[in-house]
Amino acid sequence: MVNTTTTAGLIGAVLLVRHGDRTGYYQDPTTYNSTQAYITPLGEQQEFELGTFLRNTYLNTDSPSFIQNISTDVVNVDQLTVRADAGGGNVILNSAYALLQGLYPSTKKSEITLANGTTVVPPLGGYQYVPGKSGRVTLFPSLTSWMDCEYFQYHLARIYASSTFLNMSTTAAPFLTALKPYLGSVSNNFTNMWNIYDHVNVQYTYNKTYYEILPPTFLQQARYYSDWLQHNVFTDSVQNGIGQIPIRTLLPEVIWALGNMTKTSNQVRLNIQEIDYKPFISLFNVTNATLTDPEIAGTVNYASVVALELSQNSQGQHEVSMKFKNGTEDSQFRQLKMFGNTSITLDSFIHQLFWTTINSTNNWCFSCNQTINRGCSVFNFSNDPFLYGYGTGYTG
Ligand SMILES: *[C@@H]1O[C@H](CO)[C@@H](O)[C@H](O)[C@H]1NC(C)=O
Ligand SMILES: *[C@@H]1O[C@H](CO)[C@@H](O)[C@H](O)[C@H]1NC(C)=O
Ligand SMILES: *[C@@H]1O[C@H](CO)[C@@H](O)[C@H](O)[C@H]1NC(C)=O
Ligand SMILES: *[C@@H]1O[C@H](CO)[C@@H](O)[C@H](O)[C@H]1NC(C)=O
Ligand SMILES: *[C@@H]1O[C@H](CO)[C@@H](O)[C@H](O)[C@H]1NC(C)=O
Ligand SMILES: *[C@@H]1O[C@H](CO)[C@@H](O)[C@H](O)[C@H]1NC(C)=O
Ligand SMILES: *[C@@H]1O[C@H](CO)[C@@H](O)[C@H](O)[C@H]1NC(C)=O
Ligand SMILES: *[C@@H]1O[C@H](CO)[C@@H](O)[C@H](O)[C@H]1NC(C)=O
Ligand SMILES: *[C@@H]1O[C@H](CO)[C@@H](O)[C@H](O)[C@H]1NC(C)=O
Ligand SMILES: *[C@@H]1O[C@H](CO)[C@@H](O)[C@H](O)[C@H]1NC(C)=O
Ligand SMILES: *[C@@H]1O[C@H](CO)[C@@H](O)[C@H](O)[C@H]1NC(C)=O
Ligand SMILES: *[C@@H]1O[C@H](CO)[C@@H](O)[C@H](O)[C@H]1NC(C)=O
Repeated sequence: MVNTTTTAGLIGAVLLVRHGDRTGYYQDPTTYNSTQAYITPLGEQQEFELGTFLRNTYLNTDSPSFIQNISTDVVNVDQLTVRADAGGGNVILNSAYALLQGLYPSTKKSEITLANGTTVVPPLGGYQYVPGKSGRVTLFPSLTSWMDCEYFQYHLARIYASSTFLNMSTTAAPFLTALKPYLGSVSNNFTNMWNIYDHVNVQYTYNKTYYEILPPTFLQQARYYSDWLQHNVFTDSVQNGIGQIPIRTLLPEVIWALGNMTKTSNQVRLNIQEIDYKPFISLFNVTNATLTDPEIAGTVNYASVVALELSQNSQGQHEVSMKFKNGTEDSQFRQLKMFGNTSITLDSFIHQLFWTTINSTNNWCFSCNQTINRGCSVFNFSNDPFLYGYGTGYTG
């Protein structure tokens, strides 16, 4: 590990943010294809609060994490990149808007003066409009990359047939039987554990009768089993396994963004990726963060954030440090370790992770054995080394 003394302030940060509370969200257990969900007032509030926290952390000149030269009150749109995962309806894009309202709240300072001398304040007392990009606009399946991915579906089937899954399923069976009266039409098959927890959580949050009759600990038990399954689904035995696909397709954006920030011509200070829970699980696994903090192996809460902060040490090397805040119930960031260190050089970060990434449509099609959907039909698969599963563990 290199000397971590940093010059004052950060150069920039990439923020991975989970959306806020939402309506029910069904995911097919055999594909993880999902239905639409909508953000709720609770979710908007969670994201807004997170935006305020990030404002206090990164835009406050008295904060040790102040980002050098960032505009503090009136947004400079060239300093922000905002991208939202378009999978699962409007919840993620609207979460990004709520977060931005906390990060750069309305201000009269955002007024402009026209050539004829008239000053104009934006609506709502100076609302600051920040352009965001929606994931599905770009062809490269960098977000929601597990959908339509055939090898990911094989991975699911393999998990459901594994002895650890069957064993856990047996352990969970008495609980799932007791939970049956609280599931309505939702199947209590253990493969459906994500949807089971989501149903219980949404009902418990919004249905007064349900809130009053659900036995104590049932919500926590459902979460425990759901987290266990999600960890198995969105990690893998190796860093470049198909189970890690949510982060393998997001890391190129992270690496490119951090690389851009090291350039003198760079203007972008904050790169915000609004996503769902899956990439967090894979990220904590591929960076070995769960080795030093085993309790982060579960699912992150709504409005959680991972910050990858870029700074420069006294030798002039660029360094990356990873912090995490598990939703609104954590009031502060906690420092995580990547590969055992609180901070690693950007070169080392890239060296340890870039080889695992899927960085183009072509690469994704081949890694998933998808030959038609999501822009894959334009490629020639006759030389596809993965077509028959070579090197993927899925041959035969
Ligand atoms: C997943 O959903 C998309 C549409 O959202 C559909 O085109 C695709 O066929 C579905 N894939 C599977 C495996 O069900
Ligand atoms: C911040 O601005 C000052 C003055 O314009 C400049 O010297 C410095 O290099 C800038 N720092 C960064 C990180 O852009
Ligand atoms: C100045 O321009 C704005 C926008 O076109 C217009 O609404 C306003 O009436 C003009 N003011 C004067 C004093 O001409
Ligand atoms: C099955 O679960 C039990 C505890 O419920 C544990 O002791 C055992 O090691 C597990 N076996 C496997 C193969 O995971
Ligand atoms: C549970 O669901 C899986 C598919 O998700 C299916 O293969 C299995 O047969 C189901 N088990 C029962 C007992 O219905
Ligand atoms: C609320 O929960 C009760 C008890 O489970 C259930 O009977 C009722 O259908 C639920 N209401 C709604 C709107 O889902
Ligand atoms: C990553 O997840 C796999 C299970 O998919 C597990 O075997 C491995 O220990 C995890 N690695 C870390 C560093 O937690
Ligand atoms: C990095 O900079 C290039 C050139 O300005 C730009 O096209 C690209 O979108 C940037 N990438 C990221 C992830 O910020
Ligand atoms: C976040 O906190 C919840 C409790 O509110 C916990 O169940 C979950 O495991 C935590 N997730 C992580 C990634 O730390
Ligand atoms: C990450 O953890 C695994 C054990 O899960 C270990 O084999 C590997 O060496 C670690 N990698 C680094 C770079 O620390
Ligand atoms: C994408 O990854 C491949 C290796 O898989 C690498 O050769 C290529 O340079 C990468 N492209 C970019 C733009 O980083
Ligand atoms: C990959 O897809 C091709 C074309 O759909 C199919 O012929 C082949 O069997 C698939 N490979 C595997 C390992 O499933």
